Amino acid sequence: MASNSIALRLSGMFALVALLVFLLIGWALYLQVDKGLGLLPAAEVDARYSVLESAVQRYGNPEHWTKINAKLKLLSEEDKRLRFWVVSDNPTYEFGNPDDEIRQFANGSLGMRNLNLRGHDYPFKVLVSQFPPKDQRPPLRFLTAIDTQTFWQTQHSLLIALISLAAVGIALASALGYWVARIGLKPLLDLSLEARKLAPPRLSGRLRLSSLPPELDQFVTSFNSTLERVEQAYSRLESFNADVAHELRSPLTNLIGQTQVALTRGRSAEHYFEVLQSNLEELERLRSIINDMLFLASADQGSKATELTESSLAEEVATTLDYLDFILEDAQVRVQVRGDASAPIEKAHLRRALINLLHNAVQHTLPGQVIHVDIAEERNHVSIGVANPGAQICGEHLPKLFERFYRVDASRSNSGANHGLGLAIVKAIALMHGGTVFVRSEDGVNTFGMKLPGMSD
Ligand SMILES: Nc1ncnc2c1ncn2[C@@H]1O[C@H](COP(=O)(O)OP(=O)(O)O)[C@@H](O)[C@H]1O
Ligand SMILES: [Mg+2]
Repeated sequence: MASNSIALRLSGMFALVALLVFLLIGWALYLQVDKGLGLLPAAEVDARYSVLESAVQRYGNPEHWTKINAKLKLLSEEDKRLRFWVVSDNPTYEFGNPDDEIRQFANGSLGMRNLNLRGHDYPFKVLVSQFPPKDQRPPLRFLTAIDTQTFWQTQHSLLIALISLAAVGIALASALGYWVARIGLKPLLDLSLEARKLAPPRLSGRLRLSSLPPELDQFVTSFNSTLERVEQAYSRLESFNADVAHELRSPLTNLIGQTQVALTRGRSAEHYFEVLQSNLEELERLRSIINDMLFLASADQGSKATELTESSLAEEVATTLDYLDFILEDAQVRVQVRGDASAPIEKAHLRRALINLLHNAVQHTLPGQVIHVDIAEERNHVSIGVANPGAQICGEHLPKLFERFYRVDASRSNSGANHGLGLAIVKAIALMHGGTVFVRSEDGVNTFGMKLPGMSD
């Protein structure tokens, strides 16, 4: 129905255009013809009169005059539109039984005039001419008249013809317009049929460009790139599901295994205590995975950092280091903070990101080495980077490290609190603040960090 409505709209526009064109042409034509028709009666009266003029002038006695009368009679019988009147003091030289109305008109000014006769719908075009006395004939006034009815009727029928032609033309234009629009929109209909076939299980399909008119190129290109992104998101989602299941399976397997072994025979209270202790660790790992996933899910749904407070980043790092005190001590590494900057941040989120970054750094730093936290204020953002000495990370991994569950060496870090979501959460937190993440690996130093929007003016 939607495509029909475009066709209907187009045919409506065609009709409107046709109406305008017909109005314009019809109006110009009508004006032109009207002008010509207006001049026609006077021209005809003139022509009739010029034939008679010399005869009337020449003849002055009654015998000749009867000839003129006969001629006038013949003429007016031949052409019913014509009328002649001759008005004179001597009835012998009169013609056409002029009544008072005619006499009064005849005695008016000379030349071409309009005469409205009583009981007659249309005016007469009349040429009033005067002849001086000749022989026995007194002076007389000679009226050559033509009934304008036929001219008016011609004009009227022209108007009717123009209007009906315009109506037919408009109807034709809109019908043809509809037909043409339907043909023109065919590629669009084909396209929507093709698009309908690309439902989720067939996300790998794309719309074909070659068979389409160039106007649809851009639409199809952007539609296809949208499909591309949907397909990527879809496959990411699928592998994410697989990763989640995989990640949850090992703690569950451990839990079940340990519990089954403990139940095979009677055990001492101490043994049960140990099993429960170990089960608690696995349960905590499960909880931590689920918490991280819930956090990422809420970030995915577009939740933003809202409780922003303008804070010193160095202070936040110091607080976080207090919290990580024991871990740092265990690993025998030191942390040095360089620089400071202030930025609007949501403290709980920022600390969570810092814990993840510092945790990773500690895990990849040998005892006795130093981790540097560099805080810098740049043009319109602040950057905070955690740098630790360590082996160069291969370039192919760098852009993927912030992806969920991506690990360079899964076997090595797949233990304890490591489940491959740490950097994904750092990235989510940066995005929630309207910032970005970065990673560098050069000269034996690996730096992971965030760039956050600076102070708002
Ligand atoms: N400071 C670092 N030095 C070297 N590699 C790192 C560092 N931090 C993170 N990585 C790499 O990035 C991967 C992803 O980190 P993360 O998302 O925190 O997951 P996890 O720590 O659970 O493995 C790690 O497995 C590791 O390969
Ligand atoms: Mg980590």
